[in-house]
Amino acid sequence: MDRDTIAWDEEIGVIEYIDQTMLPGEVRIVRCGDVERLAQAIRRLEIRGAPALGVAGAYGVALAVHRSTARDLSALQQEASRAADVLAATRPTAVNLAWGADRVLSRVRASTSPEQAQDAAVREAAAIAAEDVDLCRTMGEHGAALLPDTCTVLTHCNAGALACVRWGTALGVIRSAVEAGKQVSVIACETRPLFQGSRITAWELANDGIDVRVIPDSAAAHLMRQGRVDAVVVGADRVTHDAVFNKIGTYMHAVCARHHAIPFYVAAPYSTFDAASSEGDVVIELRSREEIAWCGERQLLPAGIDALNYAFDATPLDLVTALITERGVFHPPVSIEDLNRARQTI
Ligand code: MRU
Repeated sequence: MDRDTIAWDEEIGVIEYIDQTMLPGEVRIVRCGDVERLAQAIRRLEIRGAPALGVAGAYGVALAVHRSTARDLSALQQEASRAADVLAATRPTAVNLAWGADRVLSRVRASTSPEQAQDAAVREAAAIAAEDVDLCRTMGEHGAALLPDTCTVLTHCNAGALACVRWGTALGVIRSAVEAGKQVSVIACETRPLFQGSRITAWELANDGIDVRVIPDSAAAHLMRQGRVDAVVVGADRVTHDAVFNKIGTYMHAVCARHHAIPFYVAAPYSTFDAASSEGDVVIELRSREEIAWCGERQLLPAGIDALNYAFDATPLDLVTALITERGVFHPPVSIEDLNRARQTI
């Protein structure tokens, strides 16, 4: 893709992002100069995917500070802190969101004047965005080495350029493998109910000329049984010391992959690691009934029937063949020390 998923417009001092709810029909660029509007964009999944959410959290705090009219440093710091809280509350599962907001907030708190705080906030957020691009590239190279020269990879949801700033985590592994000359075909699960797989992953890969076919999520086990999947590669929203949290349906693929002796890889940067937490500590986002009840104008659920719309699930680490990070490839059982090592800034 020729533009970043999310960026800072220096000239106007606003956040610029691709509205992912409009894909694949339209590449709509939105300019956002308001933290409440940014929070709404995150809730609506205009901006989505763990690393992109980290960058959004960072730019969101920078935006609050940049736009503030406070003359006094402590008032400015309070505004930054409020913005971080508002943004972090939008989506609870992806740890990157609060991480990105906190990283900028700590720069603001360490500043000694409002001017310094404004400058430091924007610079830190831009550094997080630039770092994300480098991390994805490095992760991609580590992960590409794991794939056979000719293979079919199944992926779930979208862990691509649009879930990050560029390149992607799981799709970064695929892009790096293709760049290295490997023949990779991709099976993208459509990823109900919001179709990040068919709307975004298939669009991204096709734009890059990478072979991709879309399947209903429920077809994955059948294809694995037929021997038509060589590896599963997914991203993550959070990695605790015992589990990987990713889009709902990921656990099902991990169980099936283990049953069919297919390697199951998770690609995630250090900002996704939360080694201090256990599976039970993590809040899994429960989204609205409406996302399941309607497909555009079409009603899919009878009136009065409730839905259970969890956005993510947890895959125990023992089902993961390897974690692909910018620090290298880790094979479970993974110790807290390993995860902390993966967590250190490169
Ligand atoms: O609800 P979403 O679209 O934000 O969920 C995104 C995912 O589950 C991705 O797989 C995950 O964030 C990894 S992104 C590199």
